Amino acid sequence: MTTTNGSPGRALHRTDPIPDIDLVDPDPARTAALDQVFTDLRPEHPVFWHGRKSRPGFWAVIGHAGTVQVYRDAATFSATHGMTMDSLRPDQDPASGMMVEVTDPPEHRRLRRSVGAFFADGVVTGLTPAIDQYVRKLLTEVRDRGGTVDFAEAVAAKVPTHAAGLLLGLPLDDLEWITSRTSQVFLSGQDAGTSDDLRAAAEQANGELLGYFAKLLRRGRRGDGGDSLVHRLAVGTADRDGLTTGEAVLNALNLAIGGTTTTRSALTNLTHGLTRFPQVFQALRDEPSAVPTAVEEAVRWANPVRHLARVATRDVELAGRRIRAGDPVLVWPRSANRDETVFARPHHFDIHRRPNPHIGFAAGPHSCPGTGLARVQLRAVLGHMLEIFTGVEPAGPAELLRSNFLHGYAHLPVRFTPAS
Ligand code: HEM
Repeated sequence: MTTTNGSPGRALHRTDPIPDIDLVDPDPARTAALDQVFTDLRPEHPVFWHGRKSRPGFWAVIGHAGTVQVYRDAATFSATHGMTMDSLRPDQDPASGMMVEVTDPPEHRRLRRSVGAFFADGVVTGLTPAIDQYVRKLLTEVRDRGGTVDFAEAVAAKVPTHAAGLLLGLPLDDLEWITSRTSQVFLSGQDAGTSDDLRAAAEQANGELLGYFAKLLRRGRRGDGGDSLVHRLAVGTADRDGLTTGEAVLNALNLAIGGTTTTRSALTNLTHGLTRFPQVFQALRDEPSAVPTAVEEAVRWANPVRHLARVATRDVELAGRRIRAGDPVLVWPRSANRDETVFARPHHFDIHRRPNPHIGFAAGPHSCPGTGLARVQLRAVLGHMLEIFTGVEPAGPAELLRSNFLHGYAHLPVRFTPAS
């Protein structure tokens, strides 16, 4: 047992129940073991102090109720210090006040109104036929190539970038480059050997994407860049203010990264689940109307977001633990989505699960504005897979991303069986 401080009340609350496990470690080999660790901890320790290991200590919130409370109470749990454990800092994130993700209400509302305008009723519906057509074409090509592919590269990386490209009005020729950059951003984490390289690559990719959106905005202002979203964010309408150059560029980056890395991971997790449970593929072929509930279940069962970071703005009690102002608080939605007090048979992949109050898309003011767009993509991929193929099986070892933030597969070799 590890304690971090000598004052009696505080020591009691700051006892680390997993002194030998470092949640900062991105080693993919530990992922399955972590699900078991969280399952063992949840009943007694839905909120616990993760002592200093490779990083300074933080509160880990792993139960459903506590996670929802942290998400909803943005006044107490501030998002302004960074989104992930790797980017978390004691002072404010430099993008705070400018980028939705790291801005608290009330300022958050102004930015969210601007970003949210691009997800207003009808926008996602308008993009759906083009996404559907693209997915069908991609999966037909997979079939025509014999059905054996690295699903992560051949499908999961391409669909979200294409959808984000449509949403953001990006030149099609740029999409491959954007995929290569966004895939670098969260591949960091604290471990020996490779982490510095990964972090440097992540920072470089982030910088290059910022430069790209700034250039697109300049072209939009000159009238030779097409009508990209970054330009429209800056212009404003009768309903919302235009954003400053910095705000427009940062929020376009937030949309491009938030929209692609997560959806890509979710697509690999869904397909990996199908390779593990062939009976689920068959059940869905027999009952394609279950595709929407199966997609929700995939997001619950293997949530692409491992954790999200906040910092307490005041002393507060959460699940009986006394959190002090200034303490880092990390929620673990992957664990919350398997909370047995909320979900019956939480480790079971149930395509009919209803209700399914998972928090894979978060809750509260920062809840994901791209939920509808993500659902369209996941449903299109699953729906067309069921039409074009009769089954899917592993064609080699699946390789998890080396990331303490994203849960998804870097490589997922699969063999689809074409429908005759
Ligand atoms: C399966 C796919 C997705 C998952 C699991 C997901 C998950 C999340 C989560 C958990 C948050 C909350 C972050 C926080 O509370 O700190 C979030 C926020 C966000 N997501 Fe998504 N997301 C997905 C797809 C998308 C898409 C397709 C887009 C847009 C193209 C998008 C754009 C955003 C943005 C801009 C935010 C920040 C919102 C704010 O801070 O107000 N996401 N997402």
